[in-house]
Amino acid sequence: MDIRAELKELMESKNYSIAFVATATGLAKSTISMWINDNYNGKNDKITDAINNFINRERERISNNDLPFVDISTSRYINEIGRLCHTQGKIGVCVGCAGLGKTVAVKRYTKMFMDSILIESDSGYTAKSLLKEVHRRLGLAGKGSVYDLMDEVVRKLNQSGRLLIIDEAENLPYRALEIARRIHDKTGVGVLLVGRSILLENLKGYNNQYDQLYSRVKYTKILNRIQLVDIQDILRAVGQNPDLADVYLQYSDGNTRRLEHLITHSISIARFNDKAEVDSAVIQETSKLLMA
Ligand SMILES: Nc1ncnc2c1ncn2[C@@H]1O[C@H](COP(=O)(O)OP(=O)(O)OP(=O)(O)O)[C@@H](O)[C@H]1O
Ligand SMILES: [Mg+2]
Repeated sequence: MDIRAELKELMESKNYSIAFVATATGLAKSTISMWINDNYNGKNDKITDAINNFINRERERISNNDLPFVDISTSRYINEIGRLCHTQGKIGVCVGCAGLGKTVAVKRYTKMFMDSILIESDSGYTAKSLLKEVHRRLGLAGKGSVYDLMDEVVRKLNQSGRLLIIDEAENLPYRALEIARRIHDKTGVGVLLVGRSILLENLKGYNNQYDQLYSRVKYTKILNRIQLVDIQDILRAVGQNPDLADVYLQYSDGNTRRLEHLITHSISIARFNDKAEVDSAVIQETSKLLMA
């Protein structure tokens, strides 16, 4: 495949921006943009080498760590609720424990439906920083008073039919969640809040004091452990025997992140011990190492 097409495919699959590639390669954003479109007038070879290195590093990273995307129950539920909120302009909440695959699922959703806006919040977020981030994501400057930011966000989103997704929403203080609610009320856009189970408690507040927000939540899904069929699908996707799924389920406890660690480490350990393939004894041994 042409290296330009290869870079485009990688950027698309990993959701990488030009800015991300620029930081990773040390090249200027404008240079990369011109090079991708085949109209860079400088030394093309230098750029091609840097991009080649970047693609190779990424390939190694992918083969060492990541599983290919598989449509497991976590992603199916998030997709379903996301779609309902998106098309009907409603508020939805998906919660589940760490490592189930929530972030992978919302990233996949935004890739499929490009009019959705994904905010990956963290514990430093305030109401204003959330608003600034939404402002920026709409192509605006991310600057101004709360009043001006809100006004411009509302104008831009009004009746747009878009979906605002907030991942790790359990990190947000109530005032920030209220901002999401106000954006929804004023523009009719759907909102999907995703996070760990504590998010539901945060939304309700003590003695249901936050009824104004919680009463607007139309769809709620509590995500559980992934299923045997999910693990069989993942094993098929990485070229492993799906008959090992029940052993993997037992040692991963249906947690996708733990499963990913178990699968990738088991492959390495089988290779290290010159075994032709992973078997249940290898998975059990690997599991002990991961527990340590
Ligand atoms: N649909 C999927 N297909 C393949 N692998 C997946 C999928 N979903 C999750 N994984 C694997 O599980 C890991 C954890 O997923 P993810 O980071 O999305 O979990 P999370 O629910 O967002 O966890 P946290 O609550 O800690 O943020 C991923 O790094 C990936 O290896
Ligand atoms: Mg996550």
